[in-house]
Amino acid sequence: MDYIDLRSDTVSWPTPDMREAMANAVVGDDVYDEDPTVNELQEKAARRLGKEAGLFVASGTMGNLVAILAHCGRGDEVILGDRSHTYLYEAGGISVLGGVHSCQLPVQPDGTLPLDLIRGAIRPDNLHMPITRLIALENTQGTVGGIPVPKRYVDTVGAIAQEHGIALHIDGARIFNAATALDCDPKDLVAAADSVMFCLSKGLCAPVGSMLVGSHDFIAKAKRVRKLVGGAMRQAGILAAAGLIALEKMTLRLADDHATARMLAEGLAEIPQIEIDLAHVQTNMVFFSLRADTGISAPELAERLKAYNIRVRAGGQHGFRFVTHYWIRPEHITQVLEAINKELP
Ligand SMILES: Cc1ncc(COP(=O)(O)O)c(C=O)c1O
Repeated sequence: MDYIDLRSDTVSWPTPDMREAMANAVVGDDVYDEDPTVNELQEKAARRLGKEAGLFVASGTMGNLVAILAHCGRGDEVILGDRSHTYLYEAGGISVLGGVHSCQLPVQPDGTLPLDLIRGAIRPDNLHMPITRLIALENTQGTVGGIPVPKRYVDTVGAIAQEHGIALHIDGARIFNAATALDCDPKDLVAAADSVMFCLSKGLCAPVGSMLVGSHDFIAKAKRVRKLVGGAMRQAGILAAAGLIALEKMTLRLADDHATARMLAEGLAEIPQIEIDLAHVQTNMVFFSLRADTGISAPELAERLKAYNIRVRAGGQHGFRFVTHYWIRPEHITQVLEAINKELP
């Protein structure tokens, strides 16, 4: 990349080997299940996460939407976090397109939803109420700092879901970051889930695409919903070719992104005008804020950093979220810290 872009890992470009694989991809019509590259990606994604089947979808938003609509009918209810991506940033698709009702529980600083509130939110059999069909968790939980949610917690929520005959979906846009940070096999981390969405884009650098995995029955339903929302693609093997590299190669190097995030966080912690909780930096996201009396706002600092070829995004008057990814190297972190030090009054 020709600038240092810390706004998100979604800005990452495909790697040179992805571009080559895309150019040479063997393709077919995926609506007829005839694209060998898509088929390979779907099989490998399912195997990697310990599920029976996989489905290639255009985006994380589409993956969550398709999953929730496959689990829930109109008027059914999903329990999810009040700061989850699905609730906040997916255009309300589950209710607009699926008539799915949501019950939002408070996301805790450790990325979990309180277990007693989950139990309490599951509806009794009462005709006045919607029917609870699904619990949706997010891992890593982005809005609280890219926090990885441990297997023990996911298993407990899975057991609650099972006890009540409802399903568990995981928005695992960054599930491989979570597994890397927790040092566990991603399969184990999602063992309790009925469905998982993860993104091949973002930190894994594919230009387009996410995967949905689950049982054969679930994926068959999801495939119908994907068609319904216009997501059945034709020679999608061109995209899946990059996805295979994302899955097989890029998932193995995420510890590097976590190390650059840590380097950045530790450098920021040494700057007196900055407030940061180092314990909260566990994956590739670094949340911090400028002290209120610093004399410069976060949007102003973001603007000034452009002169150094650095792109960042302010959250409010004082806050920032910086995200590391494949294209951010340790030398970039040094440049960013120097630039911030220079610009802070
Ligand atoms: C946790 C989470 N879920 C879902 C998505 C949606 O992914 P997409 O942008 O591919 O639709 C994002 C996007 O950043 C995300 O952070």
